[in-house]
Amino acid sequence: MSDLAVNIQTPNGLTYSQPTGLFINNEWVPSSSGQKLPSINPATESVITSVHAATASDVDLAVSAAQAAFHSPTWQSIVGTARATLLNKLADLVEANQHILATIEAMDNGKPYLQARGDIEEVFSVLRYYAGWADKHYGQTMETTRAKFTYTVREPVGVCGQIIPWNYPLGMASWKLGPALACGNAIVIKAAEQTPLSILYFANLVRSAGFPPGVVNILNGHGGECGAALVQHPHIDKVAFTGSTATGKQIMKLASGTLKNLTLETGGKSPLVVFGDAQLANAVKWAHYGVMGNMGQICTATSRIFVHEGIYEAFVREFVAYVARISVVGDPFEEKTYHGPQVSRAQFEKILGYVEVAKKEGAKVILGGGVAAERPGGKGFFVSPTVVVDVTPEMTVYREEIFGPFAVIVKFSEEEEVVRMANDTEYGLAAALCTSDIARAHRVAGKLRAGMVWINSNNNSDFRVPFGGVKQSGIGRELGQAGLDAYSNIKAVHLNLNLVESL
Ligand code: NAI
Ligand code: MG
Repeated sequence: MSDLAVNIQTPNGLTYSQPTGLFINNEWVPSSSGQKLPSINPATESVITSVHAATASDVDLAVSAAQAAFHSPTWQSIVGTARATLLNKLADLVEANQHILATIEAMDNGKPYLQARGDIEEVFSVLRYYAGWADKHYGQTMETTRAKFTYTVREPVGVCGQIIPWNYPLGMASWKLGPALACGNAIVIKAAEQTPLSILYFANLVRSAGFPPGVVNILNGHGGECGAALVQHPHIDKVAFTGSTATGKQIMKLASGTLKNLTLETGGKSPLVVFGDAQLANAVKWAHYGVMGNMGQICTATSRIFVHEGIYEAFVREFVAYVARISVVGDPFEEKTYHGPQVSRAQFEKILGYVEVAKKEGAKVILGGGVAAERPGGKGFFVSPTVVVDVTPEMTVYREEIFGPFAVIVKFSEEEEVVRMANDTEYGLAAALCTSDIARAHRVAGKLRAGMVWINSNNNSDFRVPFGGVKQSGIGRELGQAGLDAYSNIKAVHLNLNLVESL
């Protein structure tokens, strides 16, 4: 059994028992192949521990457990109000454990502890929000003819395969678990290779909250192996994924064999448009938050900033000064740190590669553009917050998702021109605009091809509001009431009231 948990000492002085197994049927089990996955602390580059990595046969076991749980009399007979009680218990346990959960995420992902605390607060808030919905997600009655009574009911989809990324490990898990459990589904969820630890700690809370065995199964494993086995498993009814557009496309292909219900939340290259009449200090603040928050590892990052020529110089000057002042690089466990390492060496090198490409193609780096000199101990995947100007639409850094602290600034003169440039991308996740003209704000919000638009703010999503993209940024919506629709099917029932006359 000792192989299924390990004692860990965290950088902020906690000691805790870290589960390392696969969580199937409310039990900890080893991977059948003995395969392990090491997890690294990106601030120190040292291995924290290794966890069991699921292969296709482990996925089979987890899916069978979920299937049995889904069809069990216990789960089939449970009503929405009772599911709400379970979700609320889980939320209370997450809240009570927020210090350790945030510590694990800061250590495993590299994000500053205080930001991780914000993420965990979102986790228990999302669970409570969906607990509230669990007994309020109704069907309809509809008038047809006098001879029949017709209504719809909302039914769970069945067994859901959920694949989560590493940028907000438990946050992204909660967006998927909350609505799926509120609707009465059973789940197999897979964490990302880079951040396998917090969800294993969370698994014990799922069991303590009282969820029946098999309703929530939690796996770690490689995307191409465990993830691929999950998304093409014939007994998985729905796949929900957050991650890169390239992997989203793969998943769509793999899931097509059994025509699965899909929700995909993928990449972006979102624009922020700063008009000449914007309040400069407000625009600067939100521009920074939108691309430098979470070390730029945000799917909705507004990584292309369009600034009107009338305020271009002032904006660039203020923005660079603001980034340099607020994005304090350092140890994720120090209170003053805003900016930690990237999640992995691969991400770190990818971002540094884009700096070279930008220079080669003729753009100008005016801030950062390399390894952060302030990185503690001269180690870790720290990239200096980077600002690039003189960027034109054909450049690579204008078009590709970088997923790092890398802002690209582009000058514009006309509203029509900037709308065209903002929409000139294969993506359509989010957009933001700053202006003092309310008519322009609504007009431009209407023209931007994106699933979400922020006006005079940026990236301040809210779990009560639908989240998702258009174009190659994804399919379907998470969060809000829309999040429930993704995890339920509508069944139509036709009841004949006039047996004799209908003969
Ligand atoms: P990824 O999309 O490959 O990984 C996300 C999740 O998908 C992980 O759990 C991974 O194990 C799983 N996965 C990978 N291949 C799979 C497959 N064939 N079948 C099923 N599941 C699979 O992203 P990765 O490699 O970690 O990051 C690469 C880029 O993706 C980043 O630089 C960034 O641009 C983007 N990304 C976007 C995110 C978002 O929030 N939209 C989150 C993470 C990454
Ligand atoms: Mg890690």
